[in-house]
Amino acid sequence: MNRAARSVLLVFGVVATGAIALGIISRPAPIEVTLGAREQLPRPSAADLKGLPVGMSGCLASACHGSPANKTLAGKLDADTWQSSGSTWSAADPHSAAYSLLTDSPHRPVKVTAAHIMARYAPGTSATSDARCVACHTNPSLATSERMTDARATHLRTEGVSCEACHGNAGGWVGDHTTWKGPRAGVYAKTGMNPLYDLGERALACAGCHVGAPAENGLPVRDMNHDMIAAGHPRLNFDFAEYQRRLPAHWLEKDRTTNTPRAHSPAKVWLVGRVAHAEAACKMLVDRAERSKDDARTPWPEFAEFNCAACHHNLRAATDPSLEARWRKDPKLTGHTLGSPGWQPIWPMTVAAGIDQPTPDTATLKYVTNAMSVARPKRGEIVALAKQGSGTMAELRGRLTNAVRVEDVYPLNRLFQSPLPRVPEWDSAAQLFYGYAAMERARPGPSDLVPEFRRALGALRTDDWPNVKWAEVEGAFEAIRRKRP
Ligand code: HEC
Ligand code: HEC
Ligand code: HEC
Ligand code: HEC
Repeated sequence: MNRAARSVLLVFGVVATGAIALGIISRPAPIEVTLGAREQLPRPSAADLKGLPVGMSGCLASACHGSPANKTLAGKLDADTWQSSGSTWSAADPHSAAYSLLTDSPHRPVKVTAAHIMARYAPGTSATSDARCVACHTNPSLATSERMTDARATHLRTEGVSCEACHGNAGGWVGDHTTWKGPRAGVYAKTGMNPLYDLGERALACAGCHVGAPAENGLPVRDMNHDMIAAGHPRLNFDFAEYQRRLPAHWLEKDRTTNTPRAHSPAKVWLVGRVAHAEAACKMLVDRAERSKDDARTPWPEFAEFNCAACHHNLRAATDPSLEARWRKDPKLTGHTLGSPGWQPIWPMTVAAGIDQPTPDTATLKYVTNAMSVARPKRGEIVALAKQGSGTMAELRGRLTNAVRVEDVYPLNRLFQSPLPRVPEWDSAAQLFYGYAAMERARPGPSDLVPEFRRALGALRTDDWPNVKWAEVEGAFEAIRRKRP
């Protein structure tokens, strides 16, 4: 079935279930919607639901967010987009089927099945009943220890990463929000709807599952550790700007403090995403250090904190003996001492091996990196430094998000000039690539760098990152820099 046919079918299904669930008969959607028949629902009362998820049937009625998605799916976003936000998600957003990846019938071809991972990670346990998996593949609030066995929660989990996983549990506001007047920003904090209009908050919400997050605010821990990766789970390769581009947008970008449409510069989206990523990684590091003290299942140090290439690399003599053969032994290149793997690069917020740090904002992360670059990182020291690191990142994220021109806060234009990764290290190179791509998208007019970007991406896109074609990557980066000095 093609995508259009699938979306039509899904829209139909969604409209039907939504209409049945809410007792609403399909009618042309007015601009302001009230859910008149809500009281008749066989659901817990509004007071009981406060802070809890309502489930997507509460959002997807045709008169609410479930009208046909054809226009939104074709990328035509306007003042009416909100009416098809939900059907767009159902039809085309990978999150709508995220739960299926934990079952025997994944919605897309996978390299590794959940059964394969579980046989190595927790033999005898199914992924759908293991909160450590469920936490990221559904609304995390449905994976707390109290809710894992609850019948209603078990049913809602099959909806995958649905509306409330990003927008916040709607129990406290699903009825009222249709009558809110004027700009929305003011009501978010009072109601518990997530302020996703704030680019930094949005990036953090994504990072909760795509980087990881400690247990807080009623949500369980979301931890992609080395044991899961070694059992076969793909490592999480997150770049906020790139991942957001890959989702079918179901919204018109607005400043919800004034209710006016706006567009973010791609360079700003990228940079805010990098800062939020570093902030999330610092919080995860603090959590892992603290949890490992009294939880035997949490190792210290956690291998997933380090640069994968430090341990996983080719032992053969490399094609470029002058560099590849020696870089892991050269502290000047790796930035850490022999025998220690070195912290993960989150360029340009951390020192990436060989790439300079462009600003003093990142100094606090340099301390984290240094403290992690010893054979046995000290827990107490790491907790203190990483807390400071996440604080600095939170502050920088706020400044960048609110800046009219990010260049006033951060020397973005220096990114094209920053030295190339002097070491053949995949993560830093991939991060530099996304930075270049964001800068290029932020330029007006068509790009003349398409062939150079294609070449770089082709060389970076590999399942065998210890064996990337470095000459190709460097050649392509050099060509990009020559054209955009
Ligand atoms: C920290 C969040 C997180 C946790 C914890 C997590 N996953 Fe995932 N999982 C993801 C994301 C994100 C993807 C998609 C990866 C991507 O494309 O970036 C994914 C992808 C997958 C896939 C698809 C693999 C493929 O080959 O494409 C399977 C299967 C899967 N997860 C199963 C599990 C199981 C089983 C567990 C528990 C042991 C688990 N996940 C825990 C976030 C998580
Ligand atoms: C992966 C995260 C994610 C999921 C899942 C998600 N959304 Fe959204 N949604 C967003 C983001 C980000 C925005 C933009 C926020 C803003 O503009 O305030 C948004 C905006 C919206 C808007 C505002 C549209 C507009 O043009 O004003 C509506 C309505 C909406 N979402 C409904 C839904 C519904 C209904 C679902 C589930 C069927 C859903 N969303 C699932 C992330 C998500
Ligand atoms: C509650 C957890 C959760 C949240 C929050 C979340 N995601 Fe995801 N995301 C997942 C899981 C699990 C998958 C795997 C689904 C799949 O690959 O089929 C995924 C898949 C994706 C994919 C497809 C990946 C690929 O390889 O193509 C993109 C893109 C993505 N997410 C972007 C985002 C963005 C942007 C946000 C924030 C607006 C976000 N996600 C928030 C859990 C989450
Ligand atoms: C400190 C060294 C170290 C670091 C850093 C490290 N690993 Fe590992 N990795 C190991 C060891 C040792 C094993 C074998 C034992 C095991 O399976 O846990 C392994 C096993 C694996 C396996 C399973 C290989 C197989 O054939 O079964 C994968 C996949 C993997 N690691 C990926 C990664 C990724 C991705 C990263 C970065 C996020 C990473 N590792 C970081 C040491 C490391």
